Amino acid sequence: MDIYAEIILDHFKNPRQAGLIEHADAIAEDLNPLCGDKVKVSLRIKDGKIAGFGFEGDGCAISVASTSIIGEQLAGLEMEKFLEMSNEEVLEKLGVPISPGRIKCALLGFSCIKKAITVYKHSHA
Ligand code: FES
Repeated sequence: MDIYAEIILDHFKNPRQAGLIEHADAIAEDLNPLCGDKVKVSLRIKDGKIAGFGFEGDGCAISVASTSIIGEQLAGLEMEKFLEMSNEEVLEKLGVPISPGRIKCALLGFSCIKKAITVYKHSHA
């Protein structure tokens, strides 16, 4: 098995920050309409920064692993910085090559976190 497949498999089998956090400040759910796979994310936000993250994923290895990999990089990140991030940057951060057919899978967690932060911002504006 190549190193990329191993990274994905490792995060899929042992997702980091698995499980929703209690008393979350922001929560969102998203699904990939192409396959029906789902992800739910929860965030703690403090002083405009991401202070905690947890998720539940019911989906393919790439969607779960990519949410886990992105989640590892969230601590202390300003939510505005996160919202400015492009899909390309996220795919690059994953550090594993993603085939065009799996891009939606790889971005499912990212778009869900974006949704959670956007809703949070609107309710705290
Ligand atoms: Fe459904 Fe990947 S096949 S998110």
